[in-house]
Amino acid sequence: MKSLIVYSTQTGNTKKLADTVYEQIKGEKEIRSVESAPDPAGYDFLAVGFWVKAGKPDPETMNYIPRITSGKKIFFFATHGASTDSDHVKEAIEYAKNLAPSADILGTFNCLGEVDPAFVKRMSEKEQQPVWLHNAPNAVGHPDSTDLKNLINILSSFKFSL
Ligand SMILES: Cc1cc2nc3c(=O)[nH]c(=O)nc-3n(C[C@H](O)[C@H](O)[C@H](O)COP(=O)(O)O)c2cc1C
Repeated sequence: MKSLIVYSTQTGNTKKLADTVYEQIKGEKEIRSVESAPDPAGYDFLAVGFWVKAGKPDPETMNYIPRITSGKKIFFFATHGASTDSDHVKEAIEYAKNLAPSADILGTFNCLGEVDPAFVKRMSEKEQQPVWLHNAPNAVGHPDSTDLKNLINILSSFKFSL
């Protein structure tokens, strides 16, 4: 089995998850940022990590996911500023899943990711603020070691050999 870990990151949060996924996966594997990611056709398993932007996967990842076609196994992982169990985040993950309707989605993982303080400051000065912004203080310091442990637990629960 050949695996590819693809991640998108601006401030490094999603890369932390990607590095953990990479460490956990056995066999032939590669890790690449979405900007330089190869054609998914050459891989059996794709772990795709994105950060949530405007309630959806970030735009680069949204462009990449539809290239993953039937016969491929996918694991999605994501970081976000909104609370972990919010509809906002659930909808972003559903959005990602719907971009690869014919692939076999094995599972997903998502956790808080510290929001760029300059962005928080800029947004909090606006009259209309994003719905998730009030949760940004809770995201400080994430992903933390507990997030990474939770990710490892999810990966190790897969029945196929990672
Ligand atoms: C421009 C911008 C838009 C964002 N939009 C959202 C959003 O809609 N929902 C959300 O939960 N978090 C949002 N965030 C927070 C990021 O998703 C979060 O901080 C993420 O962990 C960043 O990941 P990265 O460090 O891998 O770039 C936004 C952050 C930025 C900078």
